[in-house]
Amino acid sequence: MQSPFVLTDRRRFLATLALGSAALTVRGAFAEQLARTVAQTEGPFYPDRLPLDTDNDLIVVNDGITPAVGEITHLSGRILDETGAAIRNAVVEIWQCDGEGVYIHSGDVSRKPRDRNFQGFGRFLTDSSGAYYFRTIKPVAYPGRTPHIHFKVKKGGRELLTTQCYVKGHPGNPGDEIWRGIHDQRERDAVTIDFAPASGSAIGELTARFDIVVGRTPVA
Ligand SMILES: [Fe+2]
Repeated sequence: MQSPFVLTDRRRFLATLALGSAALTVRGAFAEQLARTVAQTEGPFYPDRLPLDTDNDLIVVNDGITPAVGEITHLSGRILDETGAAIRNAVVEIWQCDGEGVYIHSGDVSRKPRDRNFQGFGRFLTDSSGAYYFRTIKPVAYPGRTPHIHFKVKKGGRELLTTQCYVKGHPGNPGDEIWRGIHDQRERDAVTIDFAPASGSAIGELTARFDIVVGRTPVA
């Protein structure tokens, strides 16, 4: 036979659970909506021809052995809707210039040769928690722009958002027309993220986190 103590304990546990779910329901019903991530221009350099390798590791192209030049960054985050629910099976695309400021786009007839070891573009399908992950380089400036990484989020063939993220504290930000064009301070802060040393990395790798909130999405 169970001791009264265990029974009481169990009751208390169940009561706590019930309370927890009630609290969750209330929170759900009256939840403040998350602020949507601000949409920003796609710019001229979304790849006009996708690279042969479009995985989430931009540091290594196919089975190359030479890594891209740049500060290796583990870039991750979650794709959420305005209620805070995870968007799974969303395609997250990123593109950015290489360590010399050159895009893989054929129209970027740059001043400098492109880093052939930098993939320049990558894709990731979010998991059930809406999470994505890329290994890339910390973005660098190129003439006319402060460092940034372009993002596009798609689901079911529909584009949900095109935006960019920036390096927090970079002196080029205030002079950047597109960054400055985000007038709402909170919207601007939400796309201006920390690139911090990755704990335990002996080779100076960085981590960065960029959560993205999109509008309503089709159920899938
Ligand atoms: Fe750009």
